[in-house]
Amino acid sequence: MQKRTLVWDLPLRIFHWALVSLIFAQWLTAEVIDGYMDYHAFFGYSLLGLVIFRIVWGFCGPKHALFSDFLRGPTAIWHYSQSLISRHPSTYTGHNPVGALIVPAILIVVGTQAISGLFVTDDVLFTGPYYAAISTELQSTMQWLHHKMFDLLLVIIGLHLSAIASYQFLLKKPLIGAMVHGHKNLQAKSGIISSKLPLAFIIALAIVAFMYWLVIIAPPAAELDYYY
Ligand code: HEM
Ligand code: HEM
Repeated sequence: MQKRTLVWDLPLRIFHWALVSLIFAQWLTAEVIDGYMDYHAFFGYSLLGLVIFRIVWGFCGPKHALFSDFLRGPTAIWHYSQSLISRHPSTYTGHNPVGALIVPAILIVVGTQAISGLFVTDDVLFTGPYYAAISTELQSTMQWLHHKMFDLLLVIIGLHLSAIASYQFLLKKPLIGAMVHGHKNLQAKSGIISSKLPLAFIIALAIVAFMYWLVIIAPPAAELDYYY
């Protein structure tokens, strides 16, 4: 008999939907509306905080948030892809071996985008907090990275959304609801019993303190140009 069981813990779901909202906000503040660079930077710092949170959570969160639970080798990825082609994919409680690849992909690309943001300038009103700390050559590399990584991010998001839509509508697997309320209907007792909220709260506090140090306390003082 199938039982409604918790699979995605609350911190992981908050991570997911905050990531989605903030990436959208980054696109809006950089490409659509002018004059919101301060917000762009603040959302960018928040995204870096989220990436750090997800990395830590991948080592100490509940079962299905752990890297060891879903990152599998090439053989498992190959077998799962074969089962997908036959339209009878094997069932996994957490991420399947192919879908799991979104996690390292997003952490690397969003992490790189946020870190490069610390070193760029819009040449008008806003300069990242570490822009002055690096050479001119490195500044151009960071600027290049900040522009190009976003294109790569859009490709990954496109693949992710197509995959989720195929599962939801072609294979009739209700993945979207599970990422909202956290539950799936399962036969085996393979869900989780707790979201480890106190631990998530402590990690989040530590990350907020670290981010405050990184962007407010540690950056080199900006050089001021005075014109008389
Ligand atoms: C900016 C857009 C998005 C990004 C960057 C993104 C990123 C991610 C990441 C990193 C995960 C892995 C979660 C984890 O273990 O930490 C994930 C899973 C998931 N996402 Fe998204 N997502 C995006 C948009 C969406 C949207 C719009 C939906 C639904 C309509 C969605 C549905 C899901 C679902 C259902 C899963 C779980 C997949 C599974 O069961 O293995 N995502 N997403
Ligand atoms: C994951 C986080 C971030 C995302 C997704 C993101 C995204 C973007 C995008 C799409 C652009 C427009 C690029 C273009 O026109 O081709 C942009 C520009 C910019 N971003 Fe970010 N950004 C992030 C983090 C940051 C951070 C943390 C800062 C600074 C603290 C920052 C500062 C800037 C600046 C100054 C520009 C203008 C660059 C220029 O005009 O050449 N970004 N960002």
